[in-house]
Amino acid sequence: MNETRKRILTGDRPTGKLHLGHYVGSMKNRVALQDSYECYFIIADLHTLTTKAEKEHLAELDDNIYNVVLDYLSVGIDPEKSVIFLQSAIPEEYELAQLLGNLVTLPRLTRLPSIKDMARAANMDDETVPFGLIGYPVLQAADILLPRAHLVPVGKDNEAHVEITREIARRFNHMYDVEIFPLPDVLIGEVPTLIGTDGQAKMSKSLGNAILLSDDPKTVEEKVRGMYTDPNRIRADVPGKVEGNPVFIYHDAFNPNVEEVNDLKERYRLGKVGDVEVKRKLARAINAFLDPIRERRAAYLSRPGLVEEVLVEGTRRMQREAEVTLGMVYDAMGMAGPRLRRVLQGKSSTFRLQAEA
Ligand code: TRP
Repeated sequence: MNETRKRILTGDRPTGKLHLGHYVGSMKNRVALQDSYECYFIIADLHTLTTKAEKEHLAELDDNIYNVVLDYLSVGIDPEKSVIFLQSAIPEEYELAQLLGNLVTLPRLTRLPSIKDMARAANMDDETVPFGLIGYPVLQAADILLPRAHLVPVGKDNEAHVEITREIARRFNHMYDVEIFPLPDVLIGEVPTLIGTDGQAKMSKSLGNAILLSDDPKTVEEKVRGMYTDPNRIRADVPGKVEGNPVFIYHDAFNPNVEEVNDLKERYRLGKVGDVEVKRKLARAINAFLDPIRERRAAYLSRPGLVEEVLVEGTRRMQREAEVTLGMVYDAMGMAGPRLRRVLQGKSSTFRLQAEA
């Protein structure tokens, strides 16, 4: 592997199966950039604890981790090229997050709309929000800085967290007079936030308005048939609105047949096409888009133990990189504890404090 390539770090919380919104927000970029960047994809299980630390949620994690990795492989992330790793297996994640927490202010974190949204969704208020959720972006900064990534392909909702990561990286480099961390750039997908099938602003599994990458053809047809369209259009011969209409947003995102899409839009505006035809063609396009993903999924599923193998290998590679980064960090900071630890590990024979006797 060419180790001079720039690096990508991005990933997902293992909360369930991934959907079309994940694909257009970030996954598509990841697959496209696999060859030009050295890619690290994190399964961020520690992040799920910030809103779901209860035992019943932890019991679902194995299943969710498995499904996210399988989704990654199915969309075409190649484990021979890219690293897929499990966050909680890497102790340096916790270490770096703890250190970086000192380089950002509390108000900077509490003011973030993303944190407020997550708190609200989890029925938490100012009094009940855990320290861990406030620290969510700090942990994410540790994820990104651990492999010293240059680029972070994410959905729009994560943009502010990459910005905080840049601030923290700049602060660290400046404070300790080093150039350890590149300032990572964000890369937002071509559809920054995909609308839900029900017309709500965001596709989300928990809102029940998502088409999953693992949905079978019939399920896709049913979900598309039930999609929200122009509510003012009560009959097929009433002129309809294309802009902001979920079926056309999806056509634009998933139907490569531009001619067909333009024809449908034109007739829709004139009241010359029924929702049924628009939706039938959309379901067909989405199914055609999902077919190669389904094929890869089936191929991977026929190899038991493969998902685990991918995680073990990927985490092994990330672990090596994490040790290199933390080594540089502790060198820059000159802290005694990590020097002492080297003695315990047999990597150094003497421990000295720079003390005035
Ligand atoms: N915050 C991301 C989400 O919304 C998941 C995530 C955790 C992540 N660590 C990351 C994304 C690092 C990009 C980079 O699910």
